[in-house]
Amino acid sequence: MKLLYVASECAPFVKTGGLADVIGAVPKSLADMGAGVRVMLPAYPALSDLLKSGKALKKYKDLFGGSARLMSVSSQGIDLLLLDAPHLFDRTGSLYIDANGEDWDDNHLRFGALSYAAADVAQGSLKSWRPDLVHIHDWQAGLVPAYLKQSGKPAPPVVMTIHNIAFQGVFPASTLSELKLSKTLFTPDGVEYWGKVSFLKAGLALSDKITTVSPSYANELLTPEFGMGMEGLLKARQGDLSGILNGIDTDVWNPENDSVLPAVYSARALKNKAKSKKAVQKRFGLAPSDGPLFCVISRLTKQKGLDLLVDCLPGLVGRGAQLAVLGTGDKDFQKAFKDASAKYQGSVGTIIGYDEQLSHLLQGGADAILIPSRFEPCGLTQLYGLRYGTIPVVARTGGLADTVIDANEAALVADCATGVQFNPITTQMLDVAIGRTCALFNAGKTWDKMTRRAMRHPVGWESSAQAYHQLYSALVET
Ligand code: ADP
Ligand code: GLC
Repeated sequence: MKLLYVASECAPFVKTGGLADVIGAVPKSLADMGAGVRVMLPAYPALSDLLKSGKALKKYKDLFGGSARLMSVSSQGIDLLLLDAPHLFDRTGSLYIDANGEDWDDNHLRFGALSYAAADVAQGSLKSWRPDLVHIHDWQAGLVPAYLKQSGKPAPPVVMTIHNIAFQGVFPASTLSELKLSKTLFTPDGVEYWGKVSFLKAGLALSDKITTVSPSYANELLTPEFGMGMEGLLKARQGDLSGILNGIDTDVWNPENDSVLPAVYSARALKNKAKSKKAVQKRFGLAPSDGPLFCVISRLTKQKGLDLLVDCLPGLVGRGAQLAVLGTGDKDFQKAFKDASAKYQGSVGTIIGYDEQLSHLLQGGADAILIPSRFEPCGLTQLYGLRYGTIPVVARTGGLADTVIDANEAALVADCATGVQFNPITTQMLDVAIGRTCALFNAGKTWDKMTRRAMRHPVGWESSAQAYHQLYSALVET
């Protein structure tokens, strides 16, 4: 089976969040099942070196305002199709926003072009390679089935995955002609959304199947609270919607051979985790302490519920615990954690920035990872936490609910707890969860057992990649 993945990020090449991790990992597991995936990605500046060794497969004289090429290159076990369109992607700044933190004002053209070229590939424009199925990820690839539909030519089936419904790619109706979209698609069962063009809506309305990244989030999406305006459409398509849980790349995230850690460790031999803890304390300006060390590795946004955590800091510090925060995002959150680090010097430490290596060290050195998200389609940092024996303390929502087993009395007796959950998602309940975690930590033996159990919890891609494979097979065969 030949599959075309269309996405805006792919680890280890270019990443702002969990989407990249998923796109970088699933193709490898699918390859083990005999499916060949090509990942189509914009050629951002971070990919310029790779681009040099690429082979041009197709040229466009004018793709939404400039010339473009589709380049084929393989690296680190991933086959890439890079859309080299300098007028759209060769610029400094982040993937989606400019240096002032504003969305690029031509984002519709940037990701419209990605979808347009992907639709072309889907319909055989490369001659040497034609996919049996296209899998599009998030709004940035949402227009693929719209372009396929308007071409009228035979097209392969399309699966769309929602990684986060909060991002919908909504633009004024006037962009329709710039995007070369036919007016006939500007209807409620096409790309139209309350008088505007929505890339996400287009994907959800026109794809053959829809998936999201956890079973709980698939259910939550049908409610107004979580569906963010798309719940009606998703309800109408409920029969085509399913939740397939994310996994992680267990080669990249492995405490038994992680070169970032001062000393490797395993569930059998945990002693060396203490060396990473010391290194984290040093790096984050924390005092040497044997108390519980919590960490946060996150985008600092409202979704992640970190304002709740700021309010819980007096209680956390008062219990003799410490906190190390690695994150970047909203200015207010950055300031709140910086201020807290000054106020609770030696107990709270913050590093603002995006640092992949440091995120590995934190997973290795912290005792627990805090994830108080208001909503979380899947979440990956709790899975990395499980793998590294860093107990996840999570809001009971979305994929967090599906991946962490709360250490309640029954679970402790049954010997199956792997973390701590709380709900409702309030400051008060987060404080209770932090208190429960500290008590478990201080109970020594129970904590040790839970840590080892967490590390043995299966977090790889095997079963979910199988689920995707089954979904694809059913579509390709019909
Ligand atoms: P989301 O995609 O919503 O941000 P996930 O938990 O699915 O949430 O994925 C976040 C990914 O980004 C994880 O791989 C996490 O380790 C990484 N990450 C988030 N913030 C940082 C940071 N400041 N530095 C390094 N890695 C980060
Ligand atoms: C999104 C979600 C996150 C999920 C990731 C990968 O960014 O916020 O919960 O893990 O996509 O699917």
